[in-house]
Order: sequence, then C-alpha cells, then structure tokens
Amino acid sequence: MSLGTLARSALLSGIAGAFAVSGCSGSEDPGGAVATSAAAISAMADVVFTNPLRLPSVLSGSTAYNLTIESGTAQMKPGNATPVVGFNGTFPGPTIVATRGQTITVTQKNAWSENVSIHNHGHKVAASSDGHPVDYITPGASKVYTYTNDQPAGTFWYHDHTMDVTGSHVYHGLAGFYIIHDPAEDSLGLPSGDYDVPLLLQDKSFDTNNGLTFTDNGPFFGDTPVVNGTANPVLDVANRKYRFRLLNGSNVRPWSLSLTAGTAASFQVIGSDGGLLTAPVSVTSLSMYPAERYDIVVDFSKYPVGTTLSLSNADTTAPAIKTLMQFRVSGTETDTSTVPSALATITRLEEADAKAKANITLSTAGGVWELDGLTYDPSRIDLTSTTGAVTIWTLTNNSPLTHPFHKHLTEFNILDVNGQAPSAAQNGLKDTVQVPANGTARIIFKNETFTGTYVFHCHLLDHEDNRMMLQEGVTQ
Ligand code: C2O
Ligand code: CU
Ligand code: CU
Repeated sequence: MSLGTLARSALLSGIAGAFAVSGCSGSEDPGGAVATSAAAISAMADVVFTNPLRLPSVLSGSTAYNLTIESGTAQMKPGNATPVVGFNGTFPGPTIVATRGQTITVTQKNAWSENVSIHNHGHKVAASSDGHPVDYITPGASKVYTYTNDQPAGTFWYHDHTMDVTGSHVYHGLAGFYIIHDPAEDSLGLPSGDYDVPLLLQDKSFDTNNGLTFTDNGPFFGDTPVVNGTANPVLDVANRKYRFRLLNGSNVRPWSLSLTAGTAASFQVIGSDGGLLTAPVSVTSLSMYPAERYDIVVDFSKYPVGTTLSLSNADTTAPAIKTLMQFRVSGTETDTSTVPSALATITRLEEADAKAKANITLSTAGGVWELDGLTYDPSRIDLTSTTGAVTIWTLTNNSPLTHPFHKHLTEFNILDVNGQAPSAAQNGLKDTVQVPANGTARIIFKNETFTGTYVFHCHLLDHEDNRMMLQEGVTQ
C-alpha cells in the first residue's frame, strides 16, 4: 500500500521537473507582480500555483519503525531548500501506515539538540506512549512508543508535544501523518492508493533565503500557504475521484475551506478526526481549526481536462491566505472507486448513559489563557476519572475567541454546540472540538481501559505553549 511519492505524482501530469513554471505566466506567489493581460488573467484562476505538491514518504508493512529526529532540509519552494527539524530530517515526516488491531512500535531517536516528546494525536494509547509534555526524549536518547491501533481506520498525526515549545517544534517540521486502515474500510471501494492523498495544511513565512521565520511572542500567522511542505502547491489530477485527508497542522490559523472552479464546488465529507462518518455528507465549505481532520472525496470527473480548481480559504485573519493550493485536471482515467451511502457504524453514546460529568471553562485573565482558571502544571492532576466511564464534559468559553479544545486518549461525539446539534460533518468521531467564542460545547465519550495521566488543552499551539492545558488522571 502506498500513498505515492513525488516521482509517482509526475505520472499523471507529465511534469517535466520539480518546480517547472507552467505555460500560464503567473506568479507562484499570490502577491507577486506579474505582467499578464487582463484577458489572460480572467481566463485563469486568480492566482496560478506552480510548485508540484510534494507527498510524504510512506512507512508500511512492518511492525517496528525507527525514526531519527534531526536537522534536515525540505524543498518547500524554488531555490534554496528550507532548513527543518524533522523525522529522519524530512518534512513532512514519513506517513506511518498501520492496520487496525496490529501493534506497532516506533522508536524515536533524538539526534537533535533540544528535548522532544512525540504524541500520536487521536491515538488510543497507554500513558507511557502518549507523548506527555514532560516525558522528554533528551538529546542523544531514544524512546520506544507502542501503538496498539485498537480503533477504527482514520487519519491521525504524530507531532512533537514538548512542554512550552510545541508550536515552534511543529512549525519547524516535527509533524507527520499516521493512518490506520481496517478491512471494513478497505472493502468499501473508496478511492485508494495513489488516489488517497494526505494534505497537511499549514501557513508559514520565509526569509529571502527560504528559511522559515517564526516568533512565539504572541500567536504566529504565516503569510504563505504550505501544503505537505510545499509552498503555493498544485496537484495534477486525473478526471476521477480522489480521497484527500485534510489536516489543519497550522500553529494557530483556522481554515474556512471551499473548493472553487469559478464558483464553489461541492465535495463529500467521508470522515472526521476519529474515522469514517456513518454516511457521506455533501458540503461546499468546511471550517477547520488546528488539529482537526476531515477526509473528503472530490470528483474531478465533473470538470473538463484543463480546469484548475482552488482550495480557497474564506477566513480573513491577517495576513490573509485566500488560496491554499490548486488542483489541475490534467488527464483522463477510468475510475472504479465508489463512495457508498453507508460508510461505518458509530455507536453514539446517549446523554442518559453518562454517569460522570465535568465542567471546564476556557477563559483569559490578564493576557493569560486558562482552563478552569488555571495554567498547566505537570505535577498537578486537575480532574480524575475512571476507566470505562461514560462521561460528559461541558466546555464553557468565557472568552471572545474560538478555541479548538482537544483531549487525549478518547475520541468523542459532540452532543451540542451552543445548544444546537452538530452538523452532519461534525457528527462523527472527534478529538478536537471548536468551542465558540462566548459559547459552549458539550462532548460525550467512554473512557478507555488505559490508566494514567493524560492532558487536554487548547490546540492553538500558542495557547498550548502558554499552558492552556490541564491533566486528567485516569484510574481503574
Ligand atoms: Cu495534537 Cu495534545 O495534541
Ligand atoms: Cu492529541
Ligand atoms: Cu486557545
């Protein structure tokens, strides 16, 4: 099973070489000044992205992987390769492909100069393998993480989770996809193989040498769209269905996504954070805060060869990024994939099943972001729970900003947001929920069998690093 490589992606398109400039004389930078006639511009999309989308390498077929955290480079844009800190020195990190029910180990060797701790986001895991913020792998040391993959197929991601510096570490490269397959999903006939493409959606900023710039004295928004470590990318696609695994891997930036080919195009959402939805949902836009995932299917057979579609962003947070990437319908292919009307069974927990309840407030005081009026202290347990308990958490946001609230260990269902039932796309398994500004969200979940200390936090990494995080102690 392979998600493809850069070389393979050339097969659809006949791209002569990486970063060739397309025949359309545009700029790869949306703001770039380019002399093009108005008629030519109107014949094209607003911007023309020309950097071929890079695809992460893939690790599959083994039960034990070794990764080395080290400095390296990634060819994010034409010219100099960009220095990164990555898994095997690469960015994005290799996509780890696992099978439901089959345990794998990932040994992380820290060949870098700073402490790290690696968390597999969305994974049901023993506390010792969860990448707790102070469970450091010190420089020169290694740690073996054990992943049992005892959960449905879905799109997860592994990333650094070191206390106070997660944002910087993730921004500079410590992130990769972790995908679980299972036979039930495989039998559905969804687009697979080269037509199953992960998209790590981020914003970054570059200096004139293509080095990354970053500041952590306040929320950092990059000015350039970077997908799978490619600035302003284009993916050549055939006129058929593709599955895209969308992950908002940004530091703090929310995406309000749509697919546009002149006008907004509809696409199908088939999965959310924790795996497949019960049924596909047709949408024209998707809101994604940091750490949220959606698996979508786009049917490019609706567009003539030669059409360019943009993945657009309506969120206007400055510096605004209007287009994340483009898809260029470049070839014809037959398509035997399908999107069945029934995808998966999700056992929804009912409010009446909940034996345990907790209220957690999100607030700000004197410029400090807090949960329950507290900031993170790794030596303090803030909330206790027991294995197997069905639990409702009521998240009350007393601040004027939406926060993506993430809990470790369990996927959950959203009961309601501001009293309203979740949309169909948000009605599947989630591990990160948008708690709206001055609003509430309620989530319901059943505790797993693992005991130990697990964190929950805001996934705006700037807030997380400023300790908008608490911890849960799970006992038998
Ligand atoms: Cu994606 Cu606690 O993190
Ligand atoms: Cu997590
Ligand atoms: Cu926050």
